[in-house]
Amino acid sequence: MARRIGILTGGGDCPGLNAAIRGVVKCAVGLGWEVLGIKSGFEGLLPPHNVMPLTLENTSGILTLGGTILGAASSGRFSAKTGHGTAGQLPAGLIRETQDAIAHLGLSAIIAAGGDGTLTIAQHFHEAGTPVVAIPKTIDNDLQATVITFGFDSAVACATDALDRLHTTAESHGRVFVLELMGRYAGWIAVHAGIAGGADVILIPEIPFRYEAIEKQIKRREALGRRFTLIACAEGAREEGGDFAVKGPMRSDKEAQLGGIADRVSAEIRKRTGKESRTVVLGHLQRGGGPTTFDRLLATRYGVAAVQMIADGQLGMMAALRPPDIVGVPIKDAIGKIRTVPPDGNVVRTARALGISMGGADECR
Ligand code: F6P
Repeated sequence: MARRIGILTGGGDCPGLNAAIRGVVKCAVGLGWEVLGIKSGFEGLLPPHNVMPLTLENTSGILTLGGTILGAASSGRFSAKTGHGTAGQLPAGLIRETQDAIAHLGLSAIIAAGGDGTLTIAQHFHEAGTPVVAIPKTIDNDLQATVITFGFDSAVACATDALDRLHTTAESHGRVFVLELMGRYAGWIAVHAGIAGGADVILIPEIPFRYEAIEKQIKRREALGRRFTLIACAEGAREEGGDFAVKGPMRSDKEAQLGGIADRVSAEIRKRTGKESRTVVLGHLQRGGGPTTFDRLLATRYGVAAVQMIADGQLGMMAALRPPDIVGVPIKDAIGKIRTVPPDGNVVRTARALGISMGGADECR
């Protein structure tokens, strides 16, 4: 029986979303189904129905394209998280209105590609009886129940390239550089790029830092004749007992915009060491541009798996990487608690074994 399914991309965009959309369309069309693209996240479902039919023709060539042809939304009525990650419940009226719209559009299932916020909304719909499956995306790599989300590898490649570039100029001038990277509650990008890009200090939200530890590392390097220091700093990193560095006003329909921690760290380094310390904020460069080979493949596999889950009646499930397979796991297992970097896990232990400072209190003894 011919079916019509919908796909939407919610939250912040990331490299690989178009590869996932293409995977969904190719697989669904192969089964004889129709696919409707829903624009700007869940909002696009509501009247006047901001949707577009997706075909082999209009999705041809999008495999390598960054962003999302469907548009994304990380604020508005369908925001599941606000402030510093506070979870809200969608109003029952909005759920009903959306379910009516889904019925009106003749959709037998929705595929939601998103991170923690979008998948929290997807779970609300699942619990309300809407047929939904999910695809995990976020450059932050902070979803539970999957080994990796797509977008992360592309962001790490971008951050590592930035560190490589800073390396040569920092060395030439004997400067300290603090590179501010994305990662609100989880420091996966900072720790992976920090190791791959040869950073000397890595600051992540999971390990509150002390300026004393950073100062010690800079001085230790000076004593070895290394006049420069590279610091990879997640935007959500905080001094012990300190607060998030927040930019812009708090909104009731969006998570707080973080930014400014690298400037704080740089200023304190100048004060403590007298060294010239500069700041670079990589920002949305980490989210823009095309996906790496790894992300293209992963996103495509997730797209195909999502369609197959619908065909198998596995609703309320998310495609997850459990090497070497992609499997279906309940969406509820992926959300609720962000997957953070274990402070005593292998990646952090590797960094420490390389002599990288994680800025923690343990380094001040
Ligand atoms: O969720 C990914 C993420 O990149 C976070 O690390 C960052 O805080 C946030 O998105 C910024 O999103 P935006 O600027 O689009 O609101």
